[in-house]
Amino acid sequence: MLEKQIRETVKYIKGKTGILPEAAIVLGSGLGGFADSLEDAVILPYEEIPGFAVSTAPGHKGQMVLGKKKGRYVLCLQGRFHYYEGYTMAQIVYPVRVIKALGTPKLILTNSCGGLNPNFKPGDFMLITDHINFMGANPLTGPNEDWLGCRFPDMTKAYNQELAGKARACAKTLSIDLKEGVYVGYGGPSFETPAEIRMFQMLGGSAVGMSTVPEVIAASHCGLEVLALSCITNLAAGILDQPLSGEEVIETAGKAGRKFTELLEKIVEII
Ligand code: HPA
Repeated sequence: MLEKQIRETVKYIKGKTGILPEAAIVLGSGLGGFADSLEDAVILPYEEIPGFAVSTAPGHKGQMVLGKKKGRYVLCLQGRFHYYEGYTMAQIVYPVRVIKALGTPKLILTNSCGGLNPNFKPGDFMLITDHINFMGANPLTGPNEDWLGCRFPDMTKAYNQELAGKARACAKTLSIDLKEGVYVGYGGPSFETPAEIRMFQMLGGSAVGMSTVPEVIAASHCGLEVLALSCITNLAAGILDQPLSGEEVIETAGKAGRKFTELLEKIVEII
């Protein structure tokens, strides 16, 4: 059933553009700008793509944009589906599986998140080297989709080393001090409590956010090469004596957006 639906989605996308994207990029909250500058762009609103849910999160446009950047043909998702919006894990990872079925081998995931490492500053970028799933759910729960991957997928190489190396090199070229660390996936939509943040710090987390983890698990299951990058939009709850707000997250991501786009462009050029 899922396979049939995915094949239908793939057929729809292939009918709109005959070119196979070399990489897919999921653009997180406030980071959608990269897709606005694609050449020969084909825009597909999620509501018109068979099988896709519609994203409701602020700072997310809810459309797929296919086009060229630095001579590379890429597929961008301007907006993703979050667990806190009420989507099922299957809906959240649907686009990842479509990317695999299209034949696109590489997936770049981006997000906005809160810094757990007190040395991080709002506006910093972080390469995700690993994650802790604290969402209380896993997208692979239920009958295994054998045509996508195995029942118990290995997660030790979920974050592709070669792509990580290329991202480091691109950051260096652009004089960006790219941080690295472990991303903690939290369900939300309430921000974490200061006590939860202290726990995540003790567990070895570097940043916390409400996305990405389900997509990485599904991507790893089906054998996509994953690169994941965060924009630290705030220090996590309780680190500073100030309340958190969703507006602050979008605002900081928006301000960092130009530099983030530059980094993404460089990465797309060499992967
Ligand atoms: N916590 C969870 N998700 C987030 C945060 C945060 O502090 N900032 C941006 N997304």
